[in-house]
Amino acid sequence: MNPNQNIQEKKEPIISKKFILEIKDLKKTFGNNHVLNGFNLELFEGENLVIMGKSGSGKSVMIKCLVGLMQPDSGSIKVMGKDITTLNRIDLDELRTDIGFLFQGSALYDSMTVRENLEFPLRRHKHKFGNISDTAPLVIEALESVGLVDAIDLMPAELSGGMQRRVALARTLILKPKIILYDEPTSGLDPITAKEIIELMKRIRRQYKTSSLIITHDVDCARVVSERMILLVDGINYAEGTFSELKASKDEKVKAFFK
Ligand SMILES: Nc1ncnc2c1ncn2[C@@H]1O[C@H](COP(=O)(O)OP(=O)(O)OP(=O)(O)O)[C@@H](O)[C@H]1O
Ligand SMILES: [Mg+2]
Repeated sequence: MNPNQNIQEKKEPIISKKFILEIKDLKKTFGNNHVLNGFNLELFEGENLVIMGKSGSGKSVMIKCLVGLMQPDSGSIKVMGKDITTLNRIDLDELRTDIGFLFQGSALYDSMTVRENLEFPLRRHKHKFGNISDTAPLVIEALESVGLVDAIDLMPAELSGGMQRRVALARTLILKPKIILYDEPTSGLDPITAKEIIELMKRIRRQYKTSSLIITHDVDCARVVSERMILLVDGINYAEGTFSELKASKDEKVKAFFK
């Protein structure tokens, strides 16, 4: 029996057919290492798009270009119609509040409580909420959405790996992003906790109406959360389709992902 059978496979309807994110012909080379060779991506509003690629294929490089942490050699990246490769620092900072980034391994601030971890991005971007002085309701709302209000005064070291991932997700949600980038959301978690995170990602999408780009090696995660998938091979979007379409492919490079 397939141990993953109990995960719900019902897909959510895509909210619209409007692009919220568009990457065109993205190229990035380090010396002789041609990492991205003309990568294209379109994310529809409300969609969960999974990117799979083997280690070193350029997934993180692509994400860094996408959030403006790395300058591509060429190509365009439009987020909600704005080309981020041409924005100044202030406009880029502003646009970044609409892009939530769940880092691999949670990356909480160890010396801060859960509450302080969540307040941190809020303090920097208070203007997004009309310079509110009382941040508590937003902190509680974000923690409620990941089911962890009770952990508000704990330190990260007092939390399990799964709880830390949920707090990191709450910290991402607190700025009410329109797009969430998940980098390996289930890595390092046991299968049961990984399933909880997957269910949470689906719930968050419904509650916050976000569009998500999910980078994962986890075939089960891809199967459950994706409406569409892109396989990044040789620096390009080598194959695209639904999980079932790609799984049925006869192409050797595509088949390698599902072994
Ligand atoms: N700042 C950099 N300078 C030089 N080379 C880099 C730099 N960043 C990434 N690379 C190279 O780019 C390639 C892609 O790296 P990247 O981190 O995007 O891989 P990845 O697909 O995210 O892999 P993983 O699944 O292991 O996280 C690698 O060969 C890496 O060595
Ligand atoms: Mg990476």
